[in-house]
Amino acid sequence: MKKISNIEKQYITIVNDILDHKEFKKIKNITHHGLNRYDHSVRVSYYSYKIAKLFRLDSYEVARAGLLHDFFLVNNEVISVKEKMNTLVNHPKYAEAYASKYFILSDKERDIIRSHMFPISVVAVPKYAESWLVNVIDNAVSICEAFSSKKVYFLRMSNIMIIVLLNFLKL
Ligand SMILES: [Fe+2]
Ligand SMILES: [Fe+2]
Repeated sequence: MKKISNIEKQYITIVNDILDHKEFKKIKNITHHGLNRYDHSVRVSYYSYKIAKLFRLDSYEVARAGLLHDFFLVNNEVISVKEKMNTLVNHPKYAEAYASKYFILSDKERDIIRSHMFPISVVAVPKYAESWLVNVIDNAVSICEAFSSKKVYFLRMSNIMIIVLLNFLKL
């Protein structure tokens, strides 16, 4: 049996209430990058937390907001292409609203969640180093998940490029 490291213990202490929350557990049943949204959120949160500690950033807020960054219940598997595009751009707003319904969020945590899709979504530009960190880690984790889920990655990328272009042209 794998021994839990001190850093893992510290991390769990910070996010335990979220991981155990009935509403948050619902995202275990939602497919995300071919895997599930709960595991994706934990990965983004935990890797961001470790890097935040390394660079002496606000690791507490990074861990919590990283975990909540995709906390919304829209299931991409059952919606139209148009709705998918809308969700891709607007889900940071949905996640911020949903997370604030169940958890108390600081201004920095709100910014981390709201800006995590920049520049694909221009809902918000990251204001803090912690927001940039979660943004970059989310992208890296998402790319790895898309590859490991064996879905056609380039189709996804071309979708994203189209949305970026539409956003840029304000269409
Ligand atoms: Fe997201
Ligand atoms: Fe994400």
